[in-house]
Amino acid sequence: MKKKIIIANWKMNPLDIDAATELFKKIKNNAPKFSNVKTIICPPFVYLGELSLMYSGSKISLGAQDSFWENNGSFTGEISPYQITDLGADYVILGHSDRRALGETNEIVNKKIKTAISAGLNVILCIGESERDDDGEYLRFIEEEIKESLKGISKNNLSKIIIAYEPIWAIGKSKNKAMKPANVYEMKLFILKVLKNIYDASVMETKILYGGSSGPENTESLIKEGEVDGLLVGHESLIASHFLEIIKIADGIK
Ligand code: 13P
Repeated sequence: MKKKIIIANWKMNPLDIDAATELFKKIKNNAPKFSNVKTIICPPFVYLGELSLMYSGSKISLGAQDSFWENNGSFTGEISPYQITDLGADYVILGHSDRRALGETNEIVNKKIKTAISAGLNVILCIGESERDDDGEYLRFIEEEIKESLKGISKNNLSKIIIAYEPIWAIGKSKNKAMKPANVYEMKLFILKVLKNIYDASVMETKILYGGSSGPENTESLIKEGEVDGLLVGHESLIASHFLEIIKIADGIK
């Protein structure tokens, strides 16, 4: 049975270290009970150091929410992927729609992926359209996002990338605004087809996640009927009991 991947993207939350350690403690103490799930927590940069001290030896992983495309140097305010690995994190989210909304392009995402991988990080690459149209323009948009973000990235390095499909129109809403599982499945097939066209059939093993208003109520249908490898969870990952419920449900899916 393939392990499901459940990732918490805390975004710019919570507002103090006490709340962050409290939330992390609850997840780290309970998530490892569900051995069929790989749990990855992505807190804001400022909490990574403290949380990584708490998690040594536990079975969950830590990730950052972004990293810069240069290794080091005069880049005020930026964070090097090498600084992230140094703190013990193994993952980084790149190309999240929140960052793209601030001006991040596919070209920037591509540069960031390359540096992150050379620093030893696994990448969670986010893609997703802002709206759907009847002419299928959104499919061309997704195809371009994938092609441009992965330009020059070898097949070997693709194995270090998890793709998180997050339709922007479904992010941060109530549970019934999440994408319908049948559409999630369609998109998963589409993404794999694009990857196969860039590389070859061996990349059909690439992990594809869904993100966008996922929670305990729709975890089962999104993973089972959407046939995705897991979920990238936003607001529901800030409530320990809800996030643990998501992990428990994912753990039980055959
Ligand atoms: P929500 O789960 O809050 O919709 O956020 C999804 C997301 O953007 C995770 O990266």
